[in-house]
Amino acid sequence: CGIVGYIGPKQAQEVLISGLSKLEYRGYDSAGVAIGDGACITVKKKAGKLANLSGELAAQPLAGTMGIGHTRWATHGLPNDTNSHPHATEDGQIVIVHNGIIENYLSLKEGLMGRGHTFKSETDSEVLAHLIEEAYQGDLEGAVRTALSQVRGAYGIVVTHVNHREIVAARTVSPLVMGVGEGEMFLASDVPALLAYTRKMVFLHDGDMVVLNDDGYRVTDLAGTALQRPVETIEWDAEAAEKGGFDTYMLKEVYEQPQALTNTLIGRLHDETGEVNLDINLDPASFKRISIIACGTAFYAGLVGEYLIEQLARIPVECDVASEYRYRDPLVSENTLAIVVSQSGETIDTLEALREAKKGGAKTLGVINAKGSSMTRELDDTLYIHAGPEIGVASTKAYTSMVSAFLLLALWLGRARGTISGEEGAELLHATRELPRLVEEALAEARVEQIKRVAEKYHQARDYLFLGRGVNSPTAYEGALKLKEISYIHAEAYAAGEMKHGPIALIDSNLPVVVVATESRLLEKTISNVQEVRARGGKVILILSDGDTENAQHADDVIYVPRAHEMVSPVVNAVAMQLLAYFTATALGKDVDKPRNLAKSVTVE
Ligand code: G6P
Repeated sequence: CGIVGYIGPKQAQEVLISGLSKLEYRGYDSAGVAIGDGACITVKKKAGKLANLSGELAAQPLAGTMGIGHTRWATHGLPNDTNSHPHATEDGQIVIVHNGIIENYLSLKEGLMGRGHTFKSETDSEVLAHLIEEAYQGDLEGAVRTALSQVRGAYGIVVTHVNHREIVAARTVSPLVMGVGEGEMFLASDVPALLAYTRKMVFLHDGDMVVLNDDGYRVTDLAGTALQRPVETIEWDAEAAEKGGFDTYMLKEVYEQPQALTNTLIGRLHDETGEVNLDINLDPASFKRISIIACGTAFYAGLVGEYLIEQLARIPVECDVASEYRYRDPLVSENTLAIVVSQSGETIDTLEALREAKKGGAKTLGVINAKGSSMTRELDDTLYIHAGPEIGVASTKAYTSMVSAFLLLALWLGRARGTISGEEGAELLHATRELPRLVEEALAEARVEQIKRVAEKYHQARDYLFLGRGVNSPTAYEGALKLKEISYIHAEAYAAGEMKHGPIALIDSNLPVVVVATESRLLEKTISNVQEVRARGGKVILILSDGDTENAQHADDVIYVPRAHEMVSPVVNAVAMQLLAYFTATALGKDVDKPRNLAKSVTVE
């Protein structure tokens, strides 16, 4: 999760520990360093807090003026000493730290083992050290390049070799930034790690490689062509740096969604076979019904999951808020699959509901962000969403990653049960794979500005109504929840067809009504509901697919979102909802990262 690297005249230990401590806020479960001087390298790593490691290092310092450090947030393999980074080859000559996920690590590992390599950890990262070793013939940079050419996935990787006074690093998807000092060079996964030492930074792009030594650095692409990257001077203070230059954690996390979604999907979709590989040790053919259980935003992700799974896998699904499920004496049997959804993995209502489901004999699966959290220790298996740490109280990237995880689950179940054809499966697989790009597009500046204008136009409203249909009715619920949570404006959400049965009485010229009306087989019906709002003077804000000028005439304001397959559209549409809530709250001067009365993780009943 956090990376720091150093080469220069200082003792590296001090720089690495200081840098890693500045990244602690991102969350992690183990920490380690490798320190050397160009003639030897020593690795030290410990599970748990950074203090465990820094305590040992204070008692027995590692001398050396070159080193790499890491705080790990486990993805493959438990958070223990062995799985912590750095990872070294058997002879200890090559040492690496890695952020990200290596998609094809299993096949690479099998190949390496067949050629005599022995692995110490269960991580995907360790294959990188062995691949570099295999390619090494005296040129470290060349060996890293050869190794990376075999790898599919996401990586920020930093490499040292016992005989080289240099550090080699590269990135794809996972961020890396280089700090430029006077006669010394730094590397980190995030700016805050380096601010105590330098404000001159070079942000590496996807596919960049860099070699650092005492005299400076050289950036190339993966093929070795030299590149120029500007040196930027960072003016942010430490707090702004933690937010990556954004005003709030929430906004930073909204913009992190393309990467979070890439991490959710990576290694799990196989275009060649049209299969979904989720590494779940449960028999998808054995379930007769599914219960989805969660709280808050995770519950709305579960509601999308209900639509997707019923539609694609043709299994009855019910979705419960956890606090209800645990007390309603639910009907559970061995043929039930209980899926709990949670960002933190700690919410007590969800944890207790999980225990209730287990008591009844259900098989249990988690859709969870926090590795090693309480729920994951009690579940039969977990599908991690890999969204990375979420700090803003109002959940954003965890939500879209959870919904994407349900797309994967629905495809997996549908495939295994033979309820989706090869063609339909391939189409959905393709649409799902497009999500990071579509969300990136949904975050284009002009679109964000448009949403901001709409938010500012209506920010004085006392109430809001949100409507949606089908797979996007939960999008309306989540939109209303986001707005309530951070702006304190009262907001209701309904399935659009249900509006006429009650909430229609609320409509007058003061009521903004947000309607999710993106491309869908129910679009015409949704537009009829829009007419009902218009006829009563309500202000209509339509969320429309790009190019839908015809329906725009029914709206007071339009927010266009990129066109997406209906089944994946809740992910894209959620981004518009998040931004609408965000800019409404900031127009009202609210503290979006710490909304009143709310907690990020609720561990009381
Ligand atoms: C709290 C938070 C919500 C969150 C809910 C479930 O109420 O304020 O934003 O959705 O807990 O959290 P979980 O960690 O289980 O997803």
